[in-house]
Amino acid sequence: QSSAISQCRVCWRLYQATPGQMQTRQFRVAVIGAVGGIGQPLSLLLMANKLVTELVLHDLTATKGFGQDLSHIDRACQVKSFFGEDQMKSAIKGSDIVMITAGMPRKPGQTRDFLFDTNAPIVAKAAGLVSQHAAHAMVGIITNPVNAVVAVAAEAMKKAGYYDPDRLFGVTTLDVVRAEKFIGDHMSIHPGKVRIPVIGGHAGTTIVPIFSQCQPPFEGDEKCIASIVKRIQTGGDEVVKAKAGQGSATLSMAYAAARFTNALMLGLKGEPGPPECAYVQSDATEAPFFSTPLTLGPKGIEENHGLPELDECEKEQLKVAVDALKKSAAKGVKFME
Ligand code: LMR
Repeated sequence: QSSAISQCRVCWRLYQATPGQMQTRQFRVAVIGAVGGIGQPLSLLLMANKLVTELVLHDLTATKGFGQDLSHIDRACQVKSFFGEDQMKSAIKGSDIVMITAGMPRKPGQTRDFLFDTNAPIVAKAAGLVSQHAAHAMVGIITNPVNAVVAVAAEAMKKAGYYDPDRLFGVTTLDVVRAEKFIGDHMSIHPGKVRIPVIGGHAGTTIVPIFSQCQPPFEGDEKCIASIVKRIQTGGDEVVKAKAGQGSATLSMAYAAARFTNALMLGLKGEPGPPECAYVQSDATEAPFFSTPLTLGPKGIEENHGLPELDECEKEQLKVAVDALKKSAAKGVKFME
């Protein structure tokens, strides 16, 4: 276990490309929504990842200056910039990975679900184009509400002609990152040493951190667990409130999305790190989409590890999450009917 943890950490931190690695084509990664609050830092982090040799930026507004800026960074990565609805197809075509972050963030007092009407059509459009022009790409959806728009993306891909459930992921890595950080701080250990599955979805009580499976074992009583669970579930709200009208989490979300993109690339190379949780089509529960630990491979999900062992309290939390996630998925499907 501990060597797997260090392997993951090493992979994640292996950013410096050596000159010998400069010429090898690794992966073309497209960021849809590249000029946004998450898109910019995500693009920067991807630019710095040696596995990305072609970084494609797309947004509705001009991306050229931003692409020019990134292209001065001394990495063996070509930057390509596209903008506007018409150029979304060119951005997506030929990509190995498409990370969708386009859409509106929420404001204080709004739930993620409040964004559905605005963001669902954007996700549907991008997912449909992936299906038509980059059918074998891995798709990561960061745009909220993740719980519902992943179902929108799946339906849009079916309509467009090609849908592979093993290649479509709702990015829930920020919930895992928050869990590792809050637990690490509580236990006075480096957050990078904490491994904990965070299952379910990406909103409020659909986020279920499995403390009973935490490694190293969590030190603290039930009250303490309840308070950290609550903080993980409301981490997004905490940031929205602190930003006071200036949007939601961007930097931590970009960090988490870059970590997940790195995991996808390691999978594509056939060198997967330890399992990462993501919100995918699943039969682990009655909810059609559900986040559980996944081993990633060249074809996307290589193995869905399903539900971890749960204690009684976690079983109760699971029920609540599944009920809510069934409704979210149904909302996404209905939108596409
Ligand atoms: C988060 O978890 O921080 C993101 O989903 C953004 C949000 O609206 O909370």
